[in-house]
Amino acid sequence: MRAKWQNSRAWKWVVNICRFMLGATFVFSGFVKAVDPLGTYYKIQDYLTAFGMQQLLPDIVPLLMSVLLAVLEFAVGMHLLLGIKRRLTTRLALLIMLMMTPLTFYLALTNPISDCGCFGDALVLTNWQTFGKNVVLLTCAIVVFITPWNMVRFLTKKMEWTLSNFSVVFALVLAGYCLATLPIIDFRPYKIGNNIREGMEIPEGAKPTVFDTRFIMEKDGVKQTFTVDNYPDSTWTFVSAETVVVEKGYEPPIHDFVMESLETGEDITDEMLDDPGYTFLLVMHRTEEADEGYIDLINELYEYCQENGYKFYALSSSSSEAIELWRDRTGAEYPFCIMDDITLKTMVRSNPGLMLIKEGVVLNKWADSQMPDEYDLTGKLEELPLGQMKKVNDLCTLGIVGLWYIVPLLLIILIDRIFNKKNNKNDNKLIKKSMRKKIVAGNWKMNMNLQEGVALAKELNEVLTADKPNCDVVICTPFIHLATVAQFLNQDVIGLGAENCADKVKGAFTGEVSAEMVKSTGAQYVILGHSERREYYKETPEILKEKVQLALANGLKVIFCIGESLEEREANKQNEVVKAELEGSVFNLSAEDFAKIIIAYEPIWAIGTGKTATAEQAEEIHAYIRSCVADKYGAKVADETSILYGGSCKASNAPELFAKPDIDGGLIGGASLKCADFKGIIDAWKK
Ligand code: PGA
Repeated sequence: MRAKWQNSRAWKWVVNICRFMLGATFVFSGFVKAVDPLGTYYKIQDYLTAFGMQQLLPDIVPLLMSVLLAVLEFAVGMHLLLGIKRRLTTRLALLIMLMMTPLTFYLALTNPISDCGCFGDALVLTNWQTFGKNVVLLTCAIVVFITPWNMVRFLTKKMEWTLSNFSVVFALVLAGYCLATLPIIDFRPYKIGNNIREGMEIPEGAKPTVFDTRFIMEKDGVKQTFTVDNYPDSTWTFVSAETVVVEKGYEPPIHDFVMESLETGEDITDEMLDDPGYTFLLVMHRTEEADEGYIDLINELYEYCQENGYKFYALSSSSSEAIELWRDRTGAEYPFCIMDDITLKTMVRSNPGLMLIKEGVVLNKWADSQMPDEYDLTGKLEELPLGQMKKVNDLCTLGIVGLWYIVPLLLIILIDRIFNKKNNKNDNKLIKKSMRKKIVAGNWKMNMNLQEGVALAKELNEVLTADKPNCDVVICTPFIHLATVAQFLNQDVIGLGAENCADKVKGAFTGEVSAEMVKSTGAQYVILGHSERREYYKETPEILKEKVQLALANGLKVIFCIGESLEEREANKQNEVVKAELEGSVFNLSAEDFAKIIIAYEPIWAIGTGKTATAEQAEEIHAYIRSCVADKYGAKVADETSILYGGSCKASNAPELFAKPDIDGGLIGGASLKCADFKGIIDAWKK
């Protein structure tokens, strides 16, 4: 049972706001990670180092973790935004936040790494800001987890898998592409167009970082820490000193860009940044890990630079031995400079990667697989497009990538909306249909004497006890059979009913049989309102209303018949007629009593004529009848009301009729008089 507040408008709003906040954050976080998987990989390595676990895992593991994290966050985010697989998604989101929140709390407390890296380089938060953000997101995750069904769905269930797989594949392909080349959007200070020297400047008036030196001194075996201000006298002996950051000041985006020549040890940073000509920087943060697949191309490029008078430096943080090994392996003749490892990893996300600089401005960057070759370098750089600054427009890139996701997404939604609308409607109906009773009821009418009837009932009893039906079966017999048949009928398998009962309780009504009498035979059902009784015995809606009430009062279930004549059908008045019949005799009932009514739609023109309504005709009016019930008693009662079809129903047409979402079985006349015929119809439910 759902509590009332869970269905309130206010709560639904809260759930959907939380779902969008959480979803958008996950999508952003997953997207920026997929754009720069190496960035996350380096961050994971930093974490492993901080926790002393870097040796435990092979390098491929943090890289896989980085890609998986990007895909997971992006997919969960999209699932939340679109309302796909709501239960599973909200559980996953909660699980992620339950893991992340305590972890970021620990990071904020201990500060092993200054920036958690949750949004890559796109948005750098402090550890406490990250923790605060996670507390908000955890709250959102709890809210959506409590009532995931309140999240509005933008897709039908059928499309969920397609969209789910598409989101995963999209994030995987994006991450794979950015790994194989370079991040399609560069969030780092070395992006194309940036001036490295400008990135190193500290603006005037910016707060400088304050350092303090602590001195550990010893006297009489006691150690104590002093600062410059309270430095003790000479009776204390100096033990050690350490410099600590007291207050972190402004740190320019580029702060460790220092090139030191491997050969001379000279700092050539300024020389390189001030050079008016072109400089190629081959960035290999560690030569031992660099991909050797493109060494020929690199050597050719170096030759090209020498021929044309351009500078070319390889930058690495590796030891001189490792660099020597690289030279031996690749025949590299270009000069090497030593640079900080993190700076190199930040400059180009490829090992090796290439950067073209002129007067300190980054003109272009290449991953190893994209480096320019002889076909690109056909002349002087000054005359080639390659020598000009590459045009980058992040918004445009974002738009194009977005379209790669959004266009297929919209197409999927459109296809879903157009082609599945009808099917989905039927799917829902079929789900609802499975909630109601499936019934096949026989109406013997005025056929068979006592012996014949008993024989048929016995045969049916045997056959259906041996081969259990998967629907409710009822036989409605003339009054005189009831008591005898009730004695041997296995009523767990076959229900017993009368074809009529009186509209009076008891008394001087010669020839009538009351509902109480019917019940006393052991019968549980009664057919009321059959068109033959309405027509030949002039049973009016008022009389039927009485009969229905008496039957229900005596604990009988009513199979209430409605249906139009041929003239009425030809005048297209069938809907009006059935509605009036319901209103005239059963819509006065309480919802509780109405639940004991089984409706049988029997077009008079099809009864005993061999003319059956087509399955579509029958479905159409059954759906209409259900909508009338829904209008009167609500959707729940309507979904639970069994509506049978009657009128020349046989084993041959029953399967097609019963397959319709609003047809819940049949009321069978002629074909219920022979065991095999009747069984054939019952078995239609097994098809
Ligand atoms: P029928 O009769 O199957 O013989 O057409 C149906 C009925 O009147 O209930």
